Amino acid sequence: MNIIVVKDYSEMSRKAAHLFVGQILQKPNSVLGLATGSTPVGLYKELIKFYKEGMIDFENVIAFNLDEYLNLDPTHEQSYARFMEENLFQFINMKEKNHHIPSGTALEFEAECDRYEELIHNAGGIDLQILGIGRNGHIGFNEPDIKFEAITHIVQLDEQTINDNARFFNNIEEVPKTAISMGIKTIMQSRGIILLASGKEKADAVAGMVSGKITPELPASVLQLHPNVTIIVDEAAASKINL
Ligand code: F6R
Repeated sequence: MNIIVVKDYSEMSRKAAHLFVGQILQKPNSVLGLATGSTPVGLYKELIKFYKEGMIDFENVIAFNLDEYLNLDPTHEQSYARFMEENLFQFINMKEKNHHIPSGTALEFEAECDRYEELIHNAGGIDLQILGIGRNGHIGFNEPDIKFEAITHIVQLDEQTINDNARFFNNIEEVPKTAISMGIKTIMQSRGIILLASGKEKADAVAGMVSGKITPELPASVLQLHPNVTIIVDEAAASKINL
Protein backbone atom coordinates (compact mmCIF):
# COMPACT_ATOMS: atom_id res chain seq x y z
CA MET A 1 0.00 0.00 0.00
CA ASN A 2 1.27 3.40 -0.92
CA ILE A 3 0.08 5.73 1.85
CA ILE A 4 0.11 9.48 1.30
CA VAL A 5 -0.79 11.71 4.24
CA VAL A 6 -1.85 15.22 3.28
CA LYS A 7 -2.87 18.29 5.24
CA ASP A 8 -6.56 18.49 4.45
CA TYR A 9 -9.48 17.67 2.16
CA SER A 10 -8.39 20.10 -0.60
CA GLU A 11 -4.91 18.65 -0.81
CA MET A 12 -6.36 15.12 -0.81
CA SER A 13 -8.67 16.03 -3.70
CA ARG A 14 -5.88 17.70 -5.70
CA LYS A 15 -3.48 14.76 -5.27
CA ALA A 16 -6.16 12.29 -6.31
CA ALA A 17 -7.05 14.42 -9.34
CA HIS A 18 -3.40 14.42 -10.44
CA LEU A 19 -3.37 10.62 -10.43
CA PHE A 20 -6.59 10.51 -12.47
CA VAL A 21 -5.31 13.10 -14.95
CA GLY A 22 -2.11 11.06 -15.33
CA GLN A 23 -4.17 7.93 -15.95
CA ILE A 24 -6.28 9.60 -18.66
CA LEU A 25 -3.24 11.16 -20.34
CA GLN A 26 -1.51 7.81 -20.35
CA LYS A 27 -4.58 5.96 -21.64
CA PRO A 28 -7.28 8.20 -23.17
CA ASN A 29 -9.76 5.32 -23.31
CA SER A 30 -9.28 4.47 -19.64
CA VAL A 31 -11.99 2.61 -17.76
CA LEU A 32 -12.55 4.44 -14.48
CA GLY A 33 -14.36 3.21 -11.39
CA LEU A 34 -16.20 6.05 -9.67
CA ALA A 35 -17.71 6.61 -6.23
CA THR A 36 -20.31 8.89 -4.68
CA GLY A 37 -20.66 10.42 -1.20
CA SER A 38 -18.92 13.45 0.29
CA THR A 39 -15.38 12.17 -0.21
CA PRO A 40 -14.90 12.40 -4.02
CA VAL A 41 -16.76 15.70 -4.56
CA GLY A 42 -13.52 17.72 -4.35
CA LEU A 43 -11.77 15.32 -6.70
CA TYR A 44 -14.58 15.73 -9.25
CA LYS A 45 -14.33 19.53 -8.95
CA GLU A 46 -10.60 19.31 -9.69
CA LEU A 47 -11.20 17.03 -12.68
CA ILE A 48 -13.77 19.48 -14.07
CA LYS A 49 -11.15 22.26 -13.72
CA PHE A 50 -8.54 20.23 -15.59
CA TYR A 51 -11.11 19.48 -18.29
CA LYS A 52 -12.13 23.14 -18.66
CA GLU A 53 -8.46 24.12 -18.92
CA GLY A 54 -8.17 21.68 -21.83
CA MET A 55 -5.71 19.40 -20.08
CA ILE A 56 -7.84 16.26 -20.25
CA ASP A 57 -10.47 14.88 -22.56
CA PHE A 58 -13.17 12.42 -21.52
CA GLU A 59 -14.28 11.69 -25.10
CA ASN A 60 -13.07 8.08 -24.95
CA VAL A 61 -13.20 7.48 -21.20
CA ILE A 62 -15.58 4.84 -19.85
CA ALA A 63 -16.82 4.91 -16.24
CA PHE A 64 -18.52 2.50 -13.89
CA ASN A 65 -19.96 3.62 -10.59
CA LEU A 66 -19.63 1.44 -7.54
CA ASP A 67 -23.19 1.38 -6.34
CA GLU A 68 -26.76 2.64 -6.33
CA TYR A 69 -29.66 2.54 -3.88
CA LEU A 70 -32.47 0.14 -4.68
CA ASN A 71 -35.92 1.44 -5.57
CA LEU A 72 -34.87 5.07 -5.84
CA ASP A 73 -35.72 6.57 -9.20
CA PRO A 74 -32.60 7.80 -11.08
CA THR A 75 -34.16 11.29 -11.04
CA HIS A 76 -34.54 11.25 -7.22
CA GLU A 77 -32.32 13.94 -5.76
CA GLN A 78 -30.46 11.39 -3.61
CA SER A 79 -29.98 8.74 -6.27
CA TYR A 80 -26.36 8.17 -7.18
CA ALA A 81 -27.26 8.57 -10.86
CA ARG A 82 -28.37 12.13 -10.09
CA PHE A 83 -25.35 12.73 -7.84
CA MET A 84 -22.98 11.83 -10.68
CA GLU A 85 -24.85 14.03 -13.15
CA GLU A 86 -24.77 17.01 -10.80
CA ASN A 87 -21.20 16.59 -9.55
CA LEU A 88 -19.38 15.47 -12.67
CA PHE A 89 -21.05 14.27 -15.84
CA GLN A 90 -22.92 17.46 -16.78
CA PHE A 91 -19.62 19.38 -16.79
CA ILE A 92 -17.44 17.06 -18.90
CA ASN A 93 -17.59 15.47 -22.33
CA MET A 94 -17.86 11.84 -21.31
CA LYS A 95 -20.36 10.20 -23.68
CA GLU A 96 -23.63 9.28 -22.01
CA LYS A 97 -23.39 5.74 -23.34
CA ASN A 98 -20.01 5.43 -21.64
CA HIS A 99 -20.98 6.15 -18.05
CA HIS A 100 -22.59 3.33 -16.18
CA ILE A 101 -24.36 3.07 -12.85
CA PRO A 102 -26.11 -0.06 -11.67
CA SER A 103 -29.88 0.35 -11.98
CA GLY A 104 -31.71 0.51 -8.68
CA THR A 105 -35.03 0.24 -10.46
CA ALA A 106 -34.37 -2.79 -12.66
CA LEU A 107 -37.20 -5.31 -12.82
CA GLU A 108 -34.89 -8.20 -11.98
CA PHE A 109 -32.18 -7.19 -9.54
CA GLU A 110 -30.17 -10.41 -9.88
CA ALA A 111 -30.15 -10.06 -13.67
CA GLU A 112 -29.04 -6.43 -13.27
CA CYS A 113 -26.08 -7.54 -11.13
CA ASP A 114 -25.03 -10.03 -13.82
CA ARG A 115 -25.51 -7.47 -16.58
CA TYR A 116 -23.36 -4.91 -14.74
CA GLU A 117 -20.57 -7.35 -14.01
CA GLU A 118 -20.55 -8.40 -17.66
CA LEU A 119 -20.43 -4.78 -18.86
CA ILE A 120 -17.31 -4.18 -16.76
CA HIS A 121 -15.76 -7.37 -18.08
CA ASN A 122 -16.60 -6.47 -21.71
CA ALA A 123 -15.02 -3.03 -21.25
CA GLY A 124 -11.77 -4.81 -20.39
CA GLY A 125 -11.97 -4.30 -16.60
CA ILE A 126 -11.35 -1.18 -14.56
CA ASP A 127 -8.03 0.64 -14.92
CA LEU A 128 -8.37 2.96 -11.94
CA GLN A 129 -10.96 2.75 -9.19
CA ILE A 130 -11.68 5.53 -6.72
CA LEU A 131 -12.96 4.51 -3.28
CA GLY A 132 -14.18 6.23 -0.15
CA ILE A 133 -14.45 4.33 3.11
CA GLY A 134 -17.36 4.01 5.54
CA ARG A 135 -16.85 4.47 9.29
CA ASN A 136 -17.41 0.72 9.58
CA GLY A 137 -14.72 0.01 6.97
CA HIS A 138 -17.08 -0.62 4.05
CA ILE A 139 -15.94 0.00 0.47
CA GLY A 140 -18.65 0.37 -2.15
CA PHE A 141 -21.56 -0.93 -0.12
CA ASN A 142 -19.67 -4.02 0.97
CA GLU A 143 -20.60 -4.00 4.62
CA PRO A 144 -18.79 -5.87 7.44
CA ASP A 145 -18.80 -9.67 7.10
CA ILE A 146 -19.05 -9.53 3.31
CA LYS A 147 -17.48 -12.40 1.41
CA PHE A 148 -14.27 -11.37 -0.34
CA GLU A 149 -15.37 -13.41 -3.40
CA ALA A 150 -18.52 -11.31 -3.90
CA ILE A 151 -19.11 -9.77 -7.32
CA THR A 152 -21.83 -7.17 -8.08
CA HIS A 153 -24.70 -8.05 -5.75
CA ILE A 154 -27.63 -6.83 -3.69
CA VAL A 155 -26.72 -5.65 -0.18
CA GLN A 156 -28.56 -4.80 3.02
CA LEU A 157 -27.08 -1.60 4.40
CA ASP A 158 -25.59 -1.65 7.87
CA GLU A 159 -27.34 0.33 10.61
CA GLN A 160 -24.33 2.66 10.91
CA THR A 161 -24.35 3.30 7.14
CA ILE A 162 -28.09 4.08 7.21
CA ASN A 163 -27.50 6.51 10.09
CA ASP A 164 -24.53 8.11 8.31
CA ASN A 165 -26.50 8.53 5.07
CA ALA A 166 -29.51 10.03 6.88
CA ARG A 167 -27.79 13.44 6.60
CA PHE A 168 -28.75 13.50 2.93
CA PHE A 169 -32.46 12.70 3.49
CA ASN A 170 -35.31 14.44 5.31
CA ASN A 171 -35.45 11.69 7.94
CA ILE A 172 -34.03 8.27 8.64
CA GLU A 173 -37.16 6.45 7.36
CA GLU A 174 -36.46 7.80 3.88
CA VAL A 175 -32.94 6.32 3.71
CA PRO A 176 -32.94 3.22 1.46
CA LYS A 177 -32.01 0.06 3.36
CA THR A 178 -30.83 -1.90 0.34
CA ALA A 179 -28.48 -1.20 -2.56
CA ILE A 180 -26.72 -2.80 -5.51
CA SER A 181 -22.95 -2.72 -5.24
CA MET A 182 -19.86 -3.96 -7.01
CA GLY A 183 -18.45 -6.72 -4.85
CA ILE A 184 -15.04 -6.96 -3.21
CA LYS A 185 -13.88 -9.27 -6.00
CA THR A 186 -15.00 -6.75 -8.65
CA ILE A 187 -13.11 -3.99 -6.83
CA MET A 188 -10.00 -6.14 -6.32
CA GLN A 189 -9.89 -6.89 -10.06
CA SER A 190 -9.25 -3.19 -10.80
CA ARG A 191 -5.72 -2.66 -12.04
CA GLY A 192 -5.23 0.35 -9.76
CA ILE A 193 -7.11 1.65 -6.73
CA ILE A 194 -7.06 5.02 -4.99
CA LEU A 195 -8.82 5.25 -1.63
CA LEU A 196 -9.52 8.65 -0.14
CA ALA A 197 -10.41 9.45 3.47
CA SER A 198 -10.79 12.71 5.27
CA GLY A 199 -11.81 13.64 8.81
CA LYS A 200 -11.29 12.15 12.26
CA GLU A 201 -14.49 10.09 12.09
CA LYS A 202 -12.70 7.89 9.50
CA ALA A 203 -9.55 7.44 11.63
CA ASP A 204 -10.48 4.05 13.16
CA ALA A 205 -11.53 2.56 9.82
CA VAL A 206 -8.35 3.88 8.14
CA ALA A 207 -6.11 2.48 10.89
CA GLY A 208 -7.82 -0.91 10.63
CA MET A 209 -7.55 -0.87 6.86
CA VAL A 210 -3.80 -0.19 6.68
CA SER A 211 -2.42 -1.80 9.82
CA GLY A 212 -5.11 -4.12 11.16
CA LYS A 213 -5.91 -7.75 10.50
CA ILE A 214 -7.18 -8.62 7.02
CA THR A 215 -10.75 -9.60 7.76
CA PRO A 216 -14.24 -9.42 6.21
CA GLU A 217 -15.25 -7.66 9.44
CA LEU A 218 -13.40 -4.63 8.06
CA PRO A 219 -13.93 -5.01 4.30
CA ALA A 220 -11.36 -2.32 3.32
CA SER A 221 -8.60 -4.38 4.97
CA VAL A 222 -8.67 -6.60 1.85
CA LEU A 223 -6.88 -3.76 0.05
CA GLN A 224 -3.68 -4.79 1.85
CA LEU A 225 -3.68 -7.68 -0.64
CA HIS A 226 -3.93 -5.53 -3.77
CA PRO A 227 -0.64 -4.87 -5.62
CA ASN A 228 -1.44 -1.31 -6.67
CA VAL A 229 -3.31 0.70 -4.05
CA THR A 230 -2.71 4.32 -3.11
CA ILE A 231 -4.35 5.60 0.06
CA ILE A 232 -4.58 9.40 0.26
CA VAL A 233 -5.67 10.51 3.72
CA ASP A 234 -5.68 13.82 5.51
CA GLU A 235 -3.97 14.22 8.88
CA ALA A 236 -7.19 13.72 10.84
CA ALA A 237 -8.09 10.49 9.06
CA ALA A 238 -4.49 9.27 9.40
CA SER A 239 -4.26 10.09 13.12
CA LYS A 240 -4.68 6.51 14.37
CA ILE A 241 -2.47 4.71 11.86
CA ASN A 242 0.15 2.63 13.63
CA LEU A 243 2.80 1.70 11.06
C1 F6R B 1 -20.17 5.55 -2.38
C2 F6R B 1 -19.61 4.41 -1.67
C3 F6R B 1 -19.36 4.42 -0.21
C4 F6R B 1 -18.74 5.74 0.31
C5 F6R B 1 -18.57 5.69 1.82
C6 F6R B 1 -18.04 6.99 2.38
O1 F6R B 1 -20.31 5.27 -3.75
O2 F6R B 1 -19.40 3.44 -2.30
O3 F6R B 1 -18.51 3.37 0.11
O4 F6R B 1 -17.50 5.94 -0.31
O5 F6R B 1 -19.81 5.42 2.43
O6 F6R B 1 -19.00 7.98 2.21
P1 F6R B 1 -18.64 9.52 2.41
O7 F6R B 1 -17.68 9.86 1.33
O8 F6R B 1 -19.94 10.26 2.23
O9 F6R B 1 -18.05 9.64 3.77
